[in-house]
Amino acid sequence: MNQEKVLVIDFGGQYNQLVARRVRECNVYCEIYSYRTELEAIKAMNPKGIILTGGPNSCYEENSPTYQKELFELGIPVLGLCYGAQLMMHVLGGKVEKAPVREYGKTEVRVEQDSPLFADVSRNTICWMSHFDYISRPAPGFSVTARTADCPVAAAENREKNLYAIQFHPEVLHTLEGTKILGNFVRTICGCAGSWRMDSFVEHSIEEIRNRVGSGRVLCALSGGVDSSVAAVMLAKAIGNQLTCVFVDHGLLRKQEGDEVEAVFGPEGPYQLHFIRVNAQERFYEKLAGVTEPEQKRKIIGEEFIRVFEEEARKIGAVDFLVQGTIYPDVVESGLGGESAVIKSHHNVGGLPDCVEFREIIEPLRNLFKDEVRRAGLKLGIPETLVYRQPFPGPGLGIRIIGEVTGEKVRIVQEADAIYREEIAKAGLDRTIGQYFAALTNMRSVGVMGDERTYDYAVALRAVNTVDFMTAESAEIPWEVLQTVMSRIINEVRGVNRVFYDLTSKPPGTIEFE
Ligand code: XMP
Repeated sequence: MNQEKVLVIDFGGQYNQLVARRVRECNVYCEIYSYRTELEAIKAMNPKGIILTGGPNSCYEENSPTYQKELFELGIPVLGLCYGAQLMMHVLGGKVEKAPVREYGKTEVRVEQDSPLFADVSRNTICWMSHFDYISRPAPGFSVTARTADCPVAAAENREKNLYAIQFHPEVLHTLEGTKILGNFVRTICGCAGSWRMDSFVEHSIEEIRNRVGSGRVLCALSGGVDSSVAAVMLAKAIGNQLTCVFVDHGLLRKQEGDEVEAVFGPEGPYQLHFIRVNAQERFYEKLAGVTEPEQKRKIIGEEFIRVFEEEARKIGAVDFLVQGTIYPDVVESGLGGESAVIKSHHNVGGLPDCVEFREIIEPLRNLFKDEVRRAGLKLGIPETLVYRQPFPGPGLGIRIIGEVTGEKVRIVQEADAIYREEIAKAGLDRTIGQYFAALTNMRSVGVMGDERTYDYAVALRAVNTVDFMTAESAEIPWEVLQTVMSRIINEVRGVNRVFYDLTSKPPGTIEFE
């Protein structure tokens, strides 16, 4: 299906995934590989084009990431971005040096020569620069096509050999015409038709799964999260009742969430699959009784989850395939793709496969970014409430209740959170804030309601904006919205007499409370 493929060769830049996403926005399929990938492997993939990313090093230093000259002699168009551009010049005989002025931020770039890369791009265009080295002399055969006030080679090309180098970052949205520039590369220069479409991907995947599974039996652990839901629906469309979905309700889900998942996947839903909902609330509350230490709570919830799943799996018996909702960033970050290899290990596998006897794993979303998973979900007809669901931690409300978890506290936090979500949606903020939720502090304080003294819990409201969930800023929510949420929670949720708004960023805070 993906005959038309562009490769993004990663030199350790922070925007590697962004480059790939922008290329896919041009409806061209692409994948990320480390600069350590052998030339033979690259040739074997038969790419229509190659993009070299930025990176934190200086290409003229010993031991900096590099690539052999032959990469530029394959006859395949190459586009170098920032470090990738400098490296191209360095390897092909140009000169790269430390710049007298470091360029950082939005910069006006003047396009000085006609170039297929800049077709339909303004002569003066704003681009995102971030470099301390610069190309002081382009390699032989290259001509300079763009400059900035401080940078004599903002872009250079050897059109005959289809080699293009740009100093700025077209993948970053601050580069106003960046997607157009990348589009010119992949469409005009590489000659890609641009046929990567979500509907054809979805149809093709369904067909592929059907052929692979044959008459086999498939098991899917469904959490109700976006990834597992989209994976399950894709499987359901492919193989119907050969699929069994196990959904463990641990009693730590948001209000009505268990029923929402059941409405989509259960017997009343549109798919003909075996759906097993395990109502294990009481079991979890019993295990959590008296436990206050956050890590211990997480461990108990995680372990109990596996125990429940294991029991169900044993009833089902051996299956042929196990479905996992792995998505492309997991693959890249686990080192199978780009350069982030050493930093993170795969975090999507969980402990489940160990307790089930199965032959193979099916990962239908393995090549998709999160926004593409959502689009696939919409194409598959999954309700928007599920598709645009916020990230929700595996241990659920268990880590949003500080201290001991009880059924009563779960009720309080569910009610408060539902009100908060409703008001945020009413104010039209639900798609603009990264993640938001209510948590129950373990604090009780004195208040007065009517003429009565109260001694009740305080609810904390959290809302953050984040790009990668590694850092986050608290979101600005209009005062009136917070006032309404506060007043509704205090009036409608029994057991609460105080509401706080958490202003802490991450770091030093984390997004969740435990
Ligand atoms: P923290 O609290 O670490 O959260 O700043 C970062 C992001 O990760 C989510 N999170 C989890 N997700 N299992 C998950 O699947 C977990 O144990 C877990 N803990 C935190 C959190 O909701 C936020 O989006």
